[in-house]
Amino acid sequence: MYTKEQEQELIEKSKKLLKISPDQIKDKETAKKIIEELREVIKYHDWRYYVLSDPVISDYEYDQLFKLLKELESRFPDLVTPDSPTQRVASELTKEFPQVKHLAPMLSLENSYNEEDLREFDRRVRELTGLEIVEYSVEPKFDGAGIALVYENDVLVRGATRGDGTVGEDITPNIKTIKTIPLSAKFSKYGIKTVEIRGEVLMRKDVFKKINEERLEEGLPPFANPRNAAAGSLRLQNPKEVAKRKLEAFVYQITYAVDFQNQNLLGTKIKTHYEAIKMLHNLGFRTPLKEMKICKGIEEVIEYCREWEKKRDDYPYEIDGMVIKVNDLSLHEKLGFTSHHPRWAIAFKFKARQATTRIIDVVFQVGRTGAVTPVAKLEPVEIGGVIVSSVSLINEEFIKEKDIRIGDLVLVERAGDVIPYIVKVIKEARTGKEKPIVFPKNCPSCGSPLVKPPGEAVWRCININCPAQVVERIAYFASKDAMDIRGLGKSIVKRFYELGFLRRIPDIYRLPYDKIKQLEGWGEKSVENLRKSIEESKNRPIHRLITGLSIRYVGKVTAKKLAEYINCVEELKDWTVEELEKIPDIGYVVAKSIYDFFHNEENVKTIYELKELGVKTCKDKEEQKKSDILKGKSFVFTGTLECCSREQAQEIVEELGGRVSSSVSRKTDFLVVGENPGSKLEKAKKLGVKVINEEQFLKMIKQT
Ligand code: IVH
Repeated sequence: MYTKEQEQELIEKSKKLLKISPDQIKDKETAKKIIEELREVIKYHDWRYYVLSDPVISDYEYDQLFKLLKELESRFPDLVTPDSPTQRVASELTKEFPQVKHLAPMLSLENSYNEEDLREFDRRVRELTGLEIVEYSVEPKFDGAGIALVYENDVLVRGATRGDGTVGEDITPNIKTIKTIPLSAKFSKYGIKTVEIRGEVLMRKDVFKKINEERLEEGLPPFANPRNAAAGSLRLQNPKEVAKRKLEAFVYQITYAVDFQNQNLLGTKIKTHYEAIKMLHNLGFRTPLKEMKICKGIEEVIEYCREWEKKRDDYPYEIDGMVIKVNDLSLHEKLGFTSHHPRWAIAFKFKARQATTRIIDVVFQVGRTGAVTPVAKLEPVEIGGVIVSSVSLINEEFIKEKDIRIGDLVLVERAGDVIPYIVKVIKEARTGKEKPIVFPKNCPSCGSPLVKPPGEAVWRCININCPAQVVERIAYFASKDAMDIRGLGKSIVKRFYELGFLRRIPDIYRLPYDKIKQLEGWGEKSVENLRKSIEESKNRPIHRLITGLSIRYVGKVTAKKLAEYINCVEELKDWTVEELEKIPDIGYVVAKSIYDFFHNEENVKTIYELKELGVKTCKDKEEQKKSDILKGKSFVFTGTLECCSREQAQEIVEELGGRVSSSVSRKTDFLVVGENPGSKLEKAKKLGVKVINEEQFLKMIKQT
């Protein structure tokens, strides 16, 4: 339809037109030229939006272009032509769902962006109704997917999308999965036989965040905003999948209601919008009743809109403005409709949260866990009152999938408390000078080679001493699960790091105690305690050292397992992935992670350095022997032991090479019985498992 060059030109032209304000145009000649340009670009953007479902400007920018065209056409009415985009309602139909005709046309709302627009709307309403002061209802403008529901004889018979406003798509099975939409409601109580209600399907912001996190974890592209997530979910072909998306719906307008004689009830029996909403609320629908305010005159309306604009981020649902409606329904008929909108309502739009801007550069950041994230530096742009100058590009796959390049024009969205996100690249604006983003092979912080664990989308730096991660890693090394160095918690690690005392893990064993003594909050005694616990940590069993290395996927359980099969930690540098995989419970992913860790030069160097500093990296003779004593034996405990806690007993068994499980089976070698044993005793007897008491158990382990 358009060539690449034409598209580029049209995008440039749109940008220029967006800078024009209507008062700059005085003469008809200039107006004609601008009007023609506006029609040309709007036609293009309509095509991008409706035909390709792939817009290249934000909704706000589109509205601005449309508004300028309308303004100029109203100033120069003889320039209006029947094919002007202002003369039709756009369509967004596809063939995937059956089509249905709405009972009342689903028109859209006129948009306003400032107080003056609202005052102008009020002036028009007053003029047409002859009223001096008009009562308005004001409620949030929900940013989701519009729907129309039909109830007949108290039963939900249809749920449809907006479609082109006249004909929508029948998505009843999907609609029925939404718990906030009643499947039946006693409309007959109000004398209503058939009713059509409009509303919005939404995804709560926290649900949206969670679903996106899950999608990222599964390697699926995240949704750009809750609206896309809701609209996309509604169009899924499988209602079971829809139900998993936790959609909700608000209803906010009755557009059609007749009684059992087919008489219209709107404006006659149902007198006000407030009354209609109250009725829906009483019938069990989710409505904006709580959020709604009845305002006398436009100044009160403006004040309420401003109030909501401020608290917009605290509201659990995305809203993109407020909707102002004439409260008296009998006036609706009097005011009527234009070809696009009702004259009795207007939307007050909050500041847009999308904007187009350019990527100037891409940098790579290393997170506390070693994950390397690409971040795009942007030409600063204001989005919803905040200047955005950088945005995460998530991971290498996201860049590939969206084909993002340096120099690209991109559409950025900042939805509520959600972090800025690149919705899309405007490829049509490309000049050919854009540069591909090259992912680094080495860590931008320490230069170590990056690795990508199998099945993950993220590149990681696994250098134990990488400056970007070292505070986190030292704190973990010293933690209770690892080397258990009391007094070396995260805040102290951070302080010592900032003072330059701790830059790499081995520095723990070279701390300048004389300097620490002089720090505020430190005395002779506390320094001595710290020194003591650091000294003690040198002698921990080697599985604790392995845990402390924070090798991805190697927590304390795997570390213990690993320790059973080696004599010295440094030995692991010679193990192959295949050999590691032979250890029970260690699969390919874990084996590869261990292998990668021990094939990083700095990591191996660090282990030798720790050894030199006196940290135990090899089991001592006794331990080697000790670990054989219960080898291959499995234990189950029941009742309370006097000697020690269940955890301590478990630790002892494991250190001696045995295994502990939680339930008795034929494979159990010993059931150790303490005070008040449970049902396990019965089971052991039945299965013929050997039962021993605490004394016998202690004897068994004391042999070592
Ligand atoms: S009233 C005849 N009220 O905004 C007009 N619409 O372009 C009836 N919307 O398509 C619409 N919140 O999907 C109305 N409280 C609200 C709304 C609302 C969101 C949507 C609706 C409509 C669009 C306006």
